[in-house]
Amino acid sequence: MIRLGVNIDHVATVRQARRAKEPDPVAAAVLATLGGADGITVHLREDRRHIQDRDVYLLREVVTTRLNLEMAAYEEIVAIALKVKPDEATLVPEKRQELTTEGGLDVAATEPATRSAVDRLKAAGVHVSLFIDPALAQVDMAKKLGADAIEFQTASYSEAVGAAAVAAELAKLERATAHAKGLGLHVHMGHGLNYWNVKPIVRVAGVEELNIGHSIVSRAVLVGMERAVREMKQVMQEHYPNPKKPG
Ligand code: PXP
Repeated sequence: MIRLGVNIDHVATVRQARRAKEPDPVAAAVLATLGGADGITVHLREDRRHIQDRDVYLLREVVTTRLNLEMAAYEEIVAIALKVKPDEATLVPEKRQELTTEGGLDVAATEPATRSAVDRLKAAGVHVSLFIDPALAQVDMAKKLGADAIEFQTASYSEAVGAAAVAAELAKLERATAHAKGLGLHVHMGHGLNYWNVKPIVRVAGVEELNIGHSIVSRAVLVGMERAVREMKQVMQEHYPNPKKPG
């Protein structure tokens, strides 16, 4: 089965709206795990708009599955990652003005900073993933830099309008996944995935992990985190090509 990493950034967004103590993303991580999350993902942004340093340190203590730290290759954040030692670090592009991560990392254009972050994180025993567009040249560069995994941005897929545009984006993801697997890279995907558009994604041959945040947290506000995660896992299981038989 494909792993589900639950991104809990927006639990912290609600807390930061009041600079209060609740809701606590650490509690959300525990409930997401009870709901069947295979990992917890957080993005420690340079502007600290949602996740705070304290969250990352506490999550390192509390998460019993896998902690995936999304981060830009800024020195300050790399230094924190080297202290926290998440199970995985996913390097993403970051702009202060953006509402959310826009597009994948241009691995060639950011090579010196990306290479340095990859080398240092790997030396500390952290598994490194690069968040990139589903473009073959980006996959080749990620491999050249020594990444363990790549996470294809699915924003272009999830924002595509009309059946033909959706099919074209899906085809790009399928082709890039096959290429990455051929190079021995682990393949993850994420951004903009929800309870409906995730279905074709779990059928892409070779995808190993999805990182999903906004749609799960949105549902969790109404039905609770445990149930929201359980329902996402259920959709993924029902549409996975080779579902495991119960028992
Ligand atoms: N993967 C990466 C690298 C991201 O930056 C994000 C957003 O923080 C996600 C996955 C989750 O995206 P969404 O919140 O749209 O599900």
